[in-house]
Amino acid sequence: MGGDDYNSTDFGAAAYWDARYSSPSTGGKGRGGFFDWYQAYPALRPILRACVPTASRVLMLGCGNSLLSEDMVKDGYQDIVNIDISSVVIEQMKEKHKDIPQLTYMQLDVRDMSLFGDGSFDCVIDKGTLDAMMCGDDAPHGAFKMLAEVARIMRPGGSYMLITYGAPKERLTLLNQVRCHWEVDLYIMPATPEYQLKRSNGASHAAMEKVTLTVDGQLPHDYVFKDPESHFIYVSYKSETASENNNSIVSGQEETMTSE
Ligand SMILES: C[S@@+](CC[C@H](N)C(=O)[O-])C[C@H]1O[C@@H](n2cnc3c(N)ncnc32)[C@H](O)[C@@H]1O
Repeated sequence: MGGDDYNSTDFGAAAYWDARYSSPSTGGKGRGGFFDWYQAYPALRPILRACVPTASRVLMLGCGNSLLSEDMVKDGYQDIVNIDISSVVIEQMKEKHKDIPQLTYMQLDVRDMSLFGDGSFDCVIDKGTLDAMMCGDDAPHGAFKMLAEVARIMRPGGSYMLITYGAPKERLTLLNQVRCHWEVDLYIMPATPEYQLKRSNGASHAAMEKVTLTVDGQLPHDYVFKDPESHFIYVSYKSETASENNNSIVSGQEETMTSE
């Protein structure tokens, strides 16, 4: 995941993240320090604004010191609860955003969110946290626990937006295995500039493609990735009539979404 000196199995451990957020060289620059994994708000704005109304109660899983929540509030979002297993980053972010009432922070393990009642969030956002869990010592069990908790705390009709480097073969299988009646839409976003769109001034910007899944909820077998380093956005909608032991994925329609 990270491209640094740490062993990748540490990505699921609080101690790894506490050390990382304490270190000036890996993101822990104290008040004001930040790092956004994969994509930042400007690239994600079109899909967020399309899928998550600004009045939503949002839960940000494994917030780290990303700018995403702060940028969402600047753009009109009103209620974002941010959680992370690292007490170090939670203390930093509490201090940084103490004057922004729309943002709350708490140290919490995504595998046990019993603090939150069933159906208490309209939308759950995860940028890189399931990926960290999948690199942890207890993978894939920790990831399943997390997804089961996500399914529980989402209201019926609510959504779980997963932003990840995890390819559809693995991530759709994982999402399918959770006992939640949700429908998944998949968007693919080129991550390297040579595959992105060019503005008139030559700057590249991300375009995301909505991909039609097969009836059994997988990527079509003949689908060709334009950029082998793509990022993936899975938007899972919990059924209005969600029930245990009932799990489905349906196909979407192709369309293109671009950042402004
Ligand atoms: C790859 S980073 C992503 C950070 C941020 N979401 C972003 O996009 O920049 C993964 C984050 O998940 C957090 N994390 C890892 N395991 C966790 C767990 N079990 N519960 C809560 N947070 C966890 C880490 O502390 C870290 O901040």
